[in-house]
Amino acid sequence: MSLKDKIVICNGKIRPVALEYLQDKVTLRSWQQRGRVPEEQWNGWLLDADALYSNGNIRIDEKLLQKAPKLQVVGQASVGYDNIDVEACRARNVKVGNTPGVLVNAVADIAYGLLIDTARGIVRGHLHTKSGLWGERKSMGLGVDLYGKTLGIVGFGDIGSAIARRAQASGMRVIYHNRRRRLNDAALGARYAAWDELLKTADFIVVSVTLNPSTQGMFNEAAFAAMKDGVRFVNISRGRVVDTDALYDALKSGKVAAAGLDVTEPEPLPGDHPLLTLPNITVTPHMASATEETRDEMALVTAQNIVAALSGQPMPAQVK
Ligand code: DGY
Repeated sequence: MSLKDKIVICNGKIRPVALEYLQDKVTLRSWQQRGRVPEEQWNGWLLDADALYSNGNIRIDEKLLQKAPKLQVVGQASVGYDNIDVEACRARNVKVGNTPGVLVNAVADIAYGLLIDTARGIVRGHLHTKSGLWGERKSMGLGVDLYGKTLGIVGFGDIGSAIARRAQASGMRVIYHNRRRRLNDAALGARYAAWDELLKTADFIVVSVTLNPSTQGMFNEAAFAAMKDGVRFVNISRGRVVDTDALYDALKSGKVAAAGLDVTEPEPLPGDHPLLTLPNITVTPHMASATEETRDEMALVTAQNIVAALSGQPMPAQVK
């Protein structure tokens, strides 16, 4: 069977750069229209599929794998893969690829933007102006400086260290907490801190961990209680690492002075969610990697992962 006979399926749109790459090499069935592929058609595609291109919006678990008996590889177009049961894939010899590296700068930029927003209320300032309050000479109060403050980064991988570089440009001191201390932390200008120490010393906390059983719900009532009064909190990882109710209470009481979230639980966050009634929060719609350049690179790595696995070659980024 030649590579061209291999069937690659996708339940949504594939960016043109990856579409072109794949169309050349394999047989592609992708849903390039609005909305999702109809279920009956999708089930038929699964039956024939050698590879699945995932935009991250479907659950890839035993139930799906049973419908796809020929599947050899799942290429996920994101760095996170908490929608995939990797163990179930491994048990069926289905390889999994993701896209680390290519989205580091885009995600770090959004984290830094939210960090500045928690200090200065940029979005709030826009709403203040828009609602005419500036015109009425009403004050929106003062923000705080980043300069001289301590930033605690929880999850100090590539994205965490890219956030540190941006914060250092603003004159912040950076401490971090990780499962393991990083050997090159001094070169990165960051100091390792135990979990409790980070919570009680950081003026700002940015969360950049992967979601797994040990990080799920780690920002709970006890964690918020252990933080400095008036801490500012940013999450760009996954919504489920934060207990939403505990964050709501901490924002309401002022324990957390402001929060910036690019990820939420639930996701998408309904427009009438209680969090959005609070004046001291900015929520963006999980858009940290959403730039033209980054999404192209993510799509291309995903396509390359798929083609490599189908050709029996090492994948550029395989989840082990
Ligand atoms: C990812 O790739 O996992 C990010 O959440 C995308 O923004």
